Amino acid sequence: MVDVAIVGMGYVGVTTAATLAHIGHRVYGLDIDVGRIELLSRGKAPFYEPHLDELLARNLERMHFTTDYGEAIPRADVVFIAVGTPSLPDGRPDLRYVEEAAREIGRHLNAERFTLVINKSTVPIGSGNWVEAHIRRSFSETHGEANGRFAVASNPEFLREGSAVSDSLYPDRIVVGADDPRAREILRKLYAPLVAQDFSPPESVPRPEHVQTVPYVETDTATAELVKYAANAFLALKISFINEIAALAEKVGADIRDVARGIGLDRRIGTSFLQAGVGWGGSCFPKDTAAILATGEEYGLKMPIVAAAREVNFAQRKKVVEKLLGELKIIKGKTIGLLGLSFKPNTDDLRDAPAYDIARELLEKGAFVRAYDPVAIPRAQREWNLDIEYRKSVLDVARGADALVLVTEWKEFTELDWTEVARVMRTPVLIDGRNALPGKVVQEAGLRYIGFGVPAHFPAYERVAELR
Ligand code: UDX
Repeated sequence: MVDVAIVGMGYVGVTTAATLAHIGHRVYGLDIDVGRIELLSRGKAPFYEPHLDELLARNLERMHFTTDYGEAIPRADVVFIAVGTPSLPDGRPDLRYVEEAAREIGRHLNAERFTLVINKSTVPIGSGNWVEAHIRRSFSETHGEANGRFAVASNPEFLREGSAVSDSLYPDRIVVGADDPRAREILRKLYAPLVAQDFSPPESVPRPEHVQTVPYVETDTATAELVKYAANAFLALKISFINEIAALAEKVGADIRDVARGIGLDRRIGTSFLQAGVGWGGSCFPKDTAAILATGEEYGLKMPIVAAAREVNFAQRKKVVEKLLGELKIIKGKTIGLLGLSFKPNTDDLRDAPAYDIARELLEKGAFVRAYDPVAIPRAQREWNLDIEYRKSVLDVARGADALVLVTEWKEFTELDWTEVARVMRTPVLIDGRNALPGKVVQEAGLRYIGFGVPAHFPAYERVAELR
């Protein structure tokens, strides 16, 4: 068992805390927010993430939550920094919280033994040294020379919101970057149960059959830091690529869903992350692609592929309005209903959500905008300063509307009876911003169905297939 302290009880921090407790370690969770700590002490996550409450509640006896660094840090063999790194206006990450955490950690480190500090926050490449310098300075202010009393390692996180628990318990790989041999040893011990999958899976998140052991990639710190950025940039550009091809599919009358399947079955390409639509949002892809560009720029390096992926992505949001214009001709005075606000299903996270830009542009053009989301409305009311009318159900949004836009593919929408929806709308137009609906069924229910890179009128071959 390893004693672990985690600074920052956000998505990454809480999920890591619950996972490490579940595989047998003792975990101290630290945050400056008293409300958060109180919730967590009762086994409740301070945000919406499926199965996380269960994982917390099951492992509470090995977890302790506090706002006091002095209580947690001196007891820990390993201290994780998992605080936020929001974007500054120029795209570079704001490292204020990481710096603060580093200084507090340095002040409270146990001078009698070796402690490993692990950076889990997504920081610019090379930040390992910078974090170390901050810890060293505050350590020496309190205890004198730091001489080998601690080391800093990097351990990027690849979890997705909405499936964070499963991604943490059954990761595709674990990447650790450490230059110090003692750091490598502690990391191996910390992750041994995950690598060997030597723990009993929680009932509601069973172990996928293909997971037997987890590959463990040990590198230097700069490499581990770059792995994180390269992974996110690659995934982001995969989606932008399919969106670019979807635009061409629309022109030539092809169906992007079949194109994606046709190329994805080539194992070198792979079928996932080829879903065309309004594009990516969230806390990682927009921020990390901006940050990798900013890092390149510092070295005088242009990264045109990543830059193009961003350009294509943000243009997708405008395409929704173009498609609406194509159907309605005039946006001003029309009532448009948004289905889904969060940047993807199974989360209430609104960071860089396409729905925000879409709503803002529609409002600027003089539309009335209404919206429904199964979980994200309270957050939108708090965080968005937009004149959106929030409604309680899909039908409530559809009633009297001129068009609906599916922005987030919540299950509730993909399983909907569209006949009733078509009946209550003023003009039954539906833009499927995620290509998530069965277009033919929706069209037969009486709506005009418009996807991304999907033929608007269902192609002749479908009918031919029926005749056969
Ligand atoms: C992502 C990475 O997957 C994760 O490894 C990393 O650590 C953090 O960033 P997350 O932001 O939670 O995770 O969401 P993800 O499921 O990857 O989706 C990102 C965005 O891409 C969403 O807005 C989603 O709607 C969009 N997306 C995803 C597509 O538009 N098409 C796809 O085919 C897949």
